Amino acid sequence: MLNFTFQNPTHIHFGEGQISVLAKEVPLNARVLLVYGGGSIKKNGVYQQVIAALNEHTFFEFSGIEPNPTYDTLMKAQDIIKRENIDYILAVGGGSVVDGAKFIAAAALYEGDDAWDILAKQQAVTKALPIGAVLTLPATGSESNGNSVVTRDGNKLPFSSPLVRPLFAVLDPSVTLSLSDRQISNGVVDAFIHTIEQYLTYSVNGKVQDRFSEGLLQTLIEEGPKALLPATKENLEVRANIMWSATMALNGLIGAGVPQDWSTHMIGHELTGAFGIDHARTLSIVLPAVMKVRKEQKREKLLQYASRVWQITEGDEDTRIEQAIRLTEEFFQQMQVPTRLSDVNLGSKDIDLLIERLEQHGMTALGEKSDITLAISREILTKAL
Ligand code: NZQ
Ligand code: ZN
Repeated sequence: MLNFTFQNPTHIHFGEGQISVLAKEVPLNARVLLVYGGGSIKKNGVYQQVIAALNEHTFFEFSGIEPNPTYDTLMKAQDIIKRENIDYILAVGGGSVVDGAKFIAAAALYEGDDAWDILAKQQAVTKALPIGAVLTLPATGSESNGNSVVTRDGNKLPFSSPLVRPLFAVLDPSVTLSLSDRQISNGVVDAFIHTIEQYLTYSVNGKVQDRFSEGLLQTLIEEGPKALLPATKENLEVRANIMWSATMALNGLIGAGVPQDWSTHMIGHELTGAFGIDHARTLSIVLPAVMKVRKEQKREKLLQYASRVWQITEGDEDTRIEQAIRLTEEFFQQMQVPTRLSDVNLGSKDIDLLIERLEQHGMTALGEKSDITLAISREILTKAL
């Protein structure tokens, strides 16, 4: 196992009705900016629950954070922050809103000339406003990690700082019942691939991390499809298991002390930036190709994945690996997400642009051993055609 330091200080309040804890979790003397997206929270009653819990607080609102939040939208929040002396951000929404809140919180106290440098030049965040989160879409793990992804002019860039990790997160599985099938699918697949990116590398004998990861993968394989079937889609236990899996997949626990890959995500971000494809749908296209192209480098872990996650024990090594990749693709198809570039009407002519963008963004040495060059990314994208 590799050395690591692990701390996840986000207080989690899990279960139905937990939004009421906002009354106590948000300090009474705070000047709060409630940030949210395009209005789903007003249709499903989440907004009303939040307002009721904050009835003794002083708060202001900033809405309109879009999926794949943009720098231009997020910077608009700075006016109200200055004007109203905001000192606390409450994010209510999916990963985009929580990620957006993180950038807003860091930009508000940024001392350099241009807050875009936090993303473009990876300038360190030294101060940020405190953040609380009410999560409405299980997927990203953003509610209890320090990561954020922001887009500007087709450039989708990540930054990370422990200072923007939410202090608390409310996870009420019942608020996910208003999600469309597409958003539920996206969430399950995103969480699945977060787990894979921290698991499918090379073995360092991290038995606890491996078995936690395998448990999360199996849970998502079991519960994900149930959230799409009419007979089980409203089942709150299904929703609860998906929600907790998604948080656990990217809260730092399973990735502590083990190598991590993230090449699928970095290539996927270019697909979203250039062509607007949903985050999770870029991942379901790229991952099977990464598994195929990196079969030799990932051989030992692919065999472990085949046997422990998919119970494949018969046949020679290559057959077992091929079967595991096929079952992974079938799982994605069952979750109604694409597995090929051609499924989203992209072809070989589009690969040059993606490679150019990867180069522009410094994504030239990806993977657990930083040995996925641009030429290998091209091979991966070609395999995904
Ligand atoms: O904007 P509203 O009206 O709220 O609608 C949203 C949005 O249209 C809707 N929605 C959310 N909760 C709902 C709901 N609709 C009905 N009922 C509910 N309960 O869903 C749509 C998509 O929301 P979004 O927040 O964009 O989805 P998601 O949570 O998948 O977040 C995706 C973003 O997170 C980034 C992605 O790159 C992408 O920008 N990621 C963040 C990560 C992190 N912070 O660690 C890691 C991930 O790998 C990922 O990169
Ligand atoms: Zn993701």
